[in-house]
Amino acid sequence: MDPYVSSFLHENDDFLAGLRAYALDNSVPVLRPDSASLLSTLTALKKPCRILEAGSAIGYSAILMAKAAPDTKIETVEIDPDMAGIARANIAKAGFGDRIRVILGDASDVFPALSGNFDMIFLDSAKGQYVRLLDDVVRLLSPGGLLVADNCIFYGKVYDDPASAPHKHRTIVANMRSFLERVLCGNEFQGTLLETGDGMLVAVRREGK
Ligand SMILES: C[S@@+](CC[C@H](N)C(=O)[O-])C[C@H]1O[C@@H](n2cnc3c(N)ncnc32)[C@H](O)[C@@H]1O
Repeated sequence: MDPYVSSFLHENDDFLAGLRAYALDNSVPVLRPDSASLLSTLTALKKPCRILEAGSAIGYSAILMAKAAPDTKIETVEIDPDMAGIARANIAKAGFGDRIRVILGDASDVFPALSGNFDMIFLDSAKGQYVRLLDDVVRLLSPGGLLVADNCIFYGKVYDDPASAPHKHRTIVANMRSFLERVLCGNEFQGTLLETGDGMLVAVRREGK
């Protein structure tokens, strides 16, 4: 990225800057700055009442979205109990305990058990899992609702035929391609794949599909 463009990506929120520094020091993956900027802007634009997130980590992206849309309520699913504990503590410290709920569990188990309508769903959990979550995403997302998914390029590995991917990444790449093809080529969503960060999918659930 050109340094002029990246000069606009500095964290101007002290709390989020602290979380990013912690993540860096402790090797916790959180949204890259350009993806964070995009997610924040999309959330502010959409002004969702309810957001569902897969993959809380330390709560960075959930807090970012809560700050971008002051009336939104967020459910965020995290499989790792230690991460879920840190996320809950950070969310309480940020003053969002009443607006963000961390659900401990595997998104593949939690999503099917949820009901109601969400205006926005953000996928940032296991990358090979997105395609398995898609039926529930379609069920839970309101018509006109926004789907955002991070790491869809998967370090560039998604560009190549899955058969030529290293063995350990083959299934993830094949699953990611199935996910992208259903969202971008099917009739359920209007969407686009941006090369922001590690690849951000942005898609709107079509009305009546
Ligand atoms: C990239 S990190 C999430 C970063 C976070 N969204 C942010 O930007 O602040 C991915 C997280 O997903 C969690 N995770 C992985 N597989 C999961 C699953 N099946 N269900 C729920 N969470 C999962 C990991 O433990 C990890 O904390």
